Amino acid sequence: MALRTLMTRKTLASASSNQGLLHQCRSLQTFSLPDLPYDYGALEPAISAEIMQLHHQKHHQTYITNYNKALEQLDDAIAKGDASSVVKLQSAIKFNGGGHVNHSIFWKNLAPISEGGGEPPKASLGWAIDSNFGSLEALIQKMNAEGAALQGSGWVWLGLDTQSKKLLVETTPNQDPLVTKGPSLVPILGIDVWEHAYYLQYKNVRPDYLKNIWKIMNWKHASEVYEKECPSH
Ligand SMILES: [Fe+2]
Repeated sequence: MALRTLMTRKTLASASSNQGLLHQCRSLQTFSLPDLPYDYGALEPAISAEIMQLHHQKHHQTYITNYNKALEQLDDAIAKGDASSVVKLQSAIKFNGGGHVNHSIFWKNLAPISEGGGEPPKASLGWAIDSNFGSLEALIQKMNAEGAALQGSGWVWLGLDTQSKKLLVETTPNQDPLVTKGPSLVPILGIDVWEHAYYLQYKNVRPDYLKNIWKIMNWKHASEVYEKECPSH
């Protein structure tokens, strides 16, 4: 996740001397938009270039801008000992921070067909899917059904429970990351089912978007995440 460091200078009255002001430098990490690992048009015809560009440059960027703003406000509120503002900022941090986390995962979950997008998982992740869901096709059907049934906006995930070492399918509302469903859950792949992810191309037919997204799924990346989290399987 891209980070940059913003130096903030806080001027505080020195409690221990009469010689004026003490300047204290602190660093606040802020976030910036990660580059996509492919061109905007590279996922066509499954997802149009127009959707990808708007989704990345406008939607993801807006989450990052608002996340950074909320973090700066939080920093100020903590410095001032303003407990009420610290609490008030939590929903903006969850929503916009979650938006940044989820979209950063989503871009890596996709790949152009020419670069292996849609090729089924092999080795350990392939075996784990077969043993947890019966087959890859059964997993896809389950994720498509849960993604289509999700009311409003949200995400459908293939996750790994790092304690039980089991794969599971979960949905989260709004921009909640998978970890909000359990501290031991790690996303193997996530699908954005917000209307902004498909409406320009698929209108209201979310099931068609879900059907086509598997043609550009980056199972190679998903396998790498799985093997890192679950090296003994
Ligand atoms: Fe999105």
